[in-house]
Amino acid sequence: MSAALPAIRVRHLWHRFGTMDVLRDVSFEVGQGEIFGFIGPNGAGKTTTIRIMATLLEPLSGKVEIDGIDVALAPERVRRLIGYMPDHAGVYERITIREFLEFFAAAYAVPDRAVVGAVIELTELGKLQHRLVAELSKGMKQRLQIARILLHDPKVLVLDEPASDLDPRARIEVRDLLLELKDLGKTIFLSSHILTELSDICTSVGILERGSLVVSGPISEIAERLAARNAPPGADGKREPPTPQSPFLPGNEAGPVHNAERAQTAGGALVPGAARKRLRLRVIGDARSIAPLIEGGGGVLGVEAGLAGQLTVHYVGDERFVAEVVRHLVSRGVGIVGVEPERNELERIFLEVTRGDLQ
Ligand SMILES: Nc1ncnc2c1ncn2[C@@H]1O[C@H](COP(=O)(O)OP(=O)(O)O)[C@@H](O)[C@H]1O
Ligand SMILES: [Mg+2]
Repeated sequence: MSAALPAIRVRHLWHRFGTMDVLRDVSFEVGQGEIFGFIGPNGAGKTTTIRIMATLLEPLSGKVEIDGIDVALAPERVRRLIGYMPDHAGVYERITIREFLEFFAAAYAVPDRAVVGAVIELTELGKLQHRLVAELSKGMKQRLQIARILLHDPKVLVLDEPASDLDPRARIEVRDLLLELKDLGKTIFLSSHILTELSDICTSVGILERGSLVVSGPISEIAERLAARNAPPGADGKREPPTPQSPFLPGNEAGPVHNAERAQTAGGALVPGAARKRLRLRVIGDARSIAPLIEGGGGVLGVEAGLAGQLTVHYVGDERFVAEVVRHLVSRGVGIVGVEPERNELERIFLEVTRGDLQ
């Protein structure tokens, strides 16, 4: 498994429609077994990239390899390796779900008829298998599409906007299904123009803006790179975000900091934008009198007291910080009714690297 071939390798991809450069030197890699989120606003070039990956469009220049196989040189082999679900894929409506899948199993020349049953079970379409496709909800149709692309047991799934147009329940179900497929060892590449749509299941992302890839890689690595990039000059190389310390973790002598915008920890270290986080708390009682219990703690950048027991804590640290703040307040007799760690890593990365035209 070491130094495994990437599941998807995109190198210096350029494409043009008419006189418009739709893709400009797009390069990225997706490791085996990852869920890669390809994120960008409408018109960014996601579908164009995906159609090239799916052997349906020849790029102006550049190269795509799926599991080491060049899509331009061996498209037939690549088609066997990938399960591609286009955006707004249509379904045949006047047949049953089972018939639909049997039809595609035959089209893919899947030798084993039992595969259809296995795929139906995996996608939990068993109860509906004798119903007409036309009767399915949008979410179920999406699940049927995913079932369809699993029939030939592809290693890599390429899904163009799989969660757009789905209601929240259907989206959660698609997400759970994708996680299950990841557990089965599939590599999943999915696009989305809505940042938060499926970002919580992605192990790595690429952010595309106007045909250019602005950033790609594992979310934690991107956050680290941005933090290093934002480190003030004079700092010796790579900067670690300051470790939060007591009163939330033992051994802190730091004084209070009231201004979150100063973006310094109590210890006085400048904090890169990507390392700052916000935590929302709802407490019983007057938030203004409770705020001083948190202010000055290690990792705390500032505390805002709002109405109805709302407290917003700006901080650097990980989940242990959140747990320690809660423990500390409870030990002081504060009743906590809500804890909401705010804004995930990806959202912060996104705001930092893009120019702000994502929907
Ligand atoms: N077949 C086509 N002919 C001309 N322009 C196209 C064609 N397909 C896409 N485009 C244009 O290329 C750009 C990128 O489109 P697309 O790859 O579909 O973006 P996304 O999937 O990120 O929304 C858009 O400006 C779109 O209008
Ligand atoms: Mg698209």
